[in-house]
Amino acid sequence: MNYTLMHKRLPVLELQIDEETSAIAGIGEVFSAEHIPVGVEMDDGRPARRALNAWWQGRAIPASRSGLRDALELMNVSSTGLLLLKCFGLSLSDQYWVNAHAKPLDWDRINFFQNEFSEDVGNALFGRASGSGEISLVSPDNTSDGWLKKKWVVAGDRRLLVKGGSEPAYQEPLNEVLASSILKRLGVPHAHYELAWDKDRPLSVCEDFINISTELVSAWHIYKTAKKPNNRSYYQHYLQRCEEMGIPGVREGLDQMLALDYIVVNSDRHFNNFGVVRDAESLVWLGPAPIFDSGTSMWHNQFANRINPEMDAPSKPFNTKHSAQVRHISSFDWLDFTALKGVEEEYAALLAQSDFIDDARRDVLCAALVRRIAMLEAIAARRR
Ligand SMILES: Nc1ncnc2c1ncn2[C@@H]1O[C@H](COP(=O)(O)OP(=O)(O)O)[C@@H](O)[C@H]1O
Ligand SMILES: [Mg+2]
Repeated sequence: MNYTLMHKRLPVLELQIDEETSAIAGIGEVFSAEHIPVGVEMDDGRPARRALNAWWQGRAIPASRSGLRDALELMNVSSTGLLLLKCFGLSLSDQYWVNAHAKPLDWDRINFFQNEFSEDVGNALFGRASGSGEISLVSPDNTSDGWLKKKWVVAGDRRLLVKGGSEPAYQEPLNEVLASSILKRLGVPHAHYELAWDKDRPLSVCEDFINISTELVSAWHIYKTAKKPNNRSYYQHYLQRCEEMGIPGVREGLDQMLALDYIVVNSDRHFNNFGVVRDAESLVWLGPAPIFDSGTSMWHNQFANRINPEMDAPSKPFNTKHSAQVRHISSFDWLDFTALKGVEEEYAALLAQSDFIDDARRDVLCAALVRRIAMLEAIAARRR
């Protein structure tokens, strides 16, 4: 079937989509080359079909999502690609979608920022059926990334992302709240996470940091806009791409993110867990995205007796070890360590609320947090 790839109200290009597989079968006329998604490789002035397909299918819920098979069964849907088409590819993190020529739609009436949506898909993703009636498959959850269970909810004019944790400690939501607390104390822009509960299981809730006029472009898509020369590090390549594209504030933003990740020993800051924000109409770059998704940290999947803050730990995305990655921090002048005094007490109070964290684990985690802050402070002192 023929579709137009849209960016808000603007037609970008024509494409054919095979509705059985939801794959892009062909690309037609290009109306607005500047609005082609960032990072899609071009071939002779036209987007390469393989690259556009990777971008498009990358919008679907990843196959690795926890509980996905059960969710598809509950919804009686055979694939995540089908869900992608059910919501026209619309998301709450950017402004792209596809408009079917056979049944054209008006962006103002369908976008999820201004129009309400059902929680049916979100509930299915959390393993819950939605009553006996017909379920609505038009949901921004169909385009949400990441492997943790999650769903978007409508709260008046606000859009909130609710995320679960993983076995055995369900610690990620508590870690998100800890990261918010650290970043708030340091005055660093961040998605602010609060704690909620699904029976005894903790959840994190944060507000959409994208609105009707902006969009998130992941670091991965920026990174891919040029091939990395062999003599350049991953960090240098990303920073250089941002600077060449005219994106402001990226070095400072990376300093802040890397400092947080060192403190909380984040093990999963891959290139889709940070990025930049732009105006979706003017395409003006606004700067780094507020820091989000910091929950995969604080030894969330390790036994308490394996937690050792002094031990070097795996990191992403620029180096494989935190001891090496922390060297990319270009300045500590912005970091007031006194603002972090007592943050472990906040963390202890959070951990104490969860049945999945015993007292011993809580004490080890809080002591480890204090130690990590001291370790970063020592690194900063050596640099001054
Ligand atoms: N507050 C937010 N506002 C807008 N988009 C968000 C927000 N939080 C997450 N996202 C988008 O949703 C994706 C998945 O969320 P994330 O927190 O990374 O989940 P996971 O922990 O499963 O990786 C992110 O990669 C990002 O594109
Ligand atoms: Mg993520």
